[in-house]
Amino acid sequence: MRAEVGIVGAGPAGLLLSHLLALRGIDSVVVEIRSRAYCEARQRAGVLEEGTVRLLREAGLAGRLDRLGIEHGGIYLQFAGERHHIDFRALTGGRTVTVYAQTEIVKDLIAQRLADGGVVHFSASDTSVDHLTSDRPVLRFTDAGGARHEISCDAIVGCDGFHGISRAAIPVDLLTVRQREYPYAWLGILADVPPSTDELIYAHHRRGFALHSLRSPSVSRLYLQVDPDESIEQWPDTRIWDELQRRFELPGWELKEGPALDKGITAMRSFVSAPMRYGRLFLAGDAAHIVPPTGAKGLNLAVADVAVLAPALAALLTGDERLADAYSATCLNRVWRSTHFSWWMTTMLHRTPGADEMEAELQLSQLRYVTSSRAAATSLAENYTGYSDVRG
Ligand code: FAD
Ligand code: PHB
Repeated sequence: MRAEVGIVGAGPAGLLLSHLLALRGIDSVVVEIRSRAYCEARQRAGVLEEGTVRLLREAGLAGRLDRLGIEHGGIYLQFAGERHHIDFRALTGGRTVTVYAQTEIVKDLIAQRLADGGVVHFSASDTSVDHLTSDRPVLRFTDAGGARHEISCDAIVGCDGFHGISRAAIPVDLLTVRQREYPYAWLGILADVPPSTDELIYAHHRRGFALHSLRSPSVSRLYLQVDPDESIEQWPDTRIWDELQRRFELPGWELKEGPALDKGITAMRSFVSAPMRYGRLFLAGDAAHIVPPTGAKGLNLAVADVAVLAPALAALLTGDERLADAYSATCLNRVWRSTHFSWWMTTMLHRTPGADEMEAELQLSQLRYVTSSRAAATSLAENYTGYSDVRG
């Protein structure tokens, strides 16, 4: 079998790349180990940068996003018993973010690919990539019905997340990996209750970080900092809500409670693997880099990678390798900016287990600075709302 581009993974990166290539008349095959239902239900990101929204609109993918997405002009930072608003619109000349769940983006992308006749193999197994330094790399997999496939491609793109097979196919001595594990995790719940806030609340508290986000006018998304070895069984709904009430407590404000529709614990790490290319294999999204979720950057980075990659692959197929050669360096510039911002937000807002009073005072000083200096608040607002030149 032949395809111009073989794509491993049907997360946001793989599906969007397949669509952007189709807009350029390039055919691709997407291979995904999970079922369609699983991909559409996996609870993850919620915040889209302005450039991400613009790109999805320009690619004709924003029908539901424009109806259901909720535009936000700021966030709250809460610490030391006070809640402060960071006004993105006022600080950045009108920039905003949009809350629209990753589950919805994945549903939109799958529906669009299938409506356009795109090929997506769900529930595949034994995916492997081969002949990566030749100009005919090969993608192999077994489909849901048990048939083995071998696809000869012009290029293969690993969009298979942090635990996928693509990055592992690059000789280890050619990769430079930088990483940091954090001594905490996030317990996230999707709750059947209207949000208690008009903007996201990032709360720094002596008991640990908490985040109040939302999904719709009737569904909230909340996160709690927990120990990384904590198991979800130790957290019945009542314990979660008690802890959320303590960390968000503010006189005159009430946190509304409701049943948890979904619960999970996520480890936190920073990870960057470079370069994002080996011969005719390109890596995009979480396959190449991970950020802790405190800066809301992971999904936006995945989108930015494939926005750079689609035109680079189009040029490569016509024999012009210049954009493909620049791909890794172009993306890593943004990746490192987001990695720094995510690390900065994370270490400012979380409580490090065993940290001394010195660290606690330094964090509070930084939070007071960010909420009192226009220059410091503008820096946060600029980073949070995103970086320019996401290309389609
Ligand atoms: P993934 O979404 O991980 O997709 C990879 C796909 O590859 C998966 O479908 C997987 O099943 C498939 N796959 C894996 N191995 C194989 C294989 N061998 N063969 C075939 N397929 C394979 N980001 C934000 O921007 N904003 C946020 O607010 C935000 N919040 C987050 C909150 C949480 C709790 C978490 C966990 C993440 C959050 N993120 C956020 C990060 C964001 O979800 C990820 O960065 C994003 O999913 C990356 O997309 P991707 O397509 O690169 O990878
Ligand atoms: C979310 O809504 O899931 C969300 C929002 C902001 C973050 C992380 C996750 O920083």
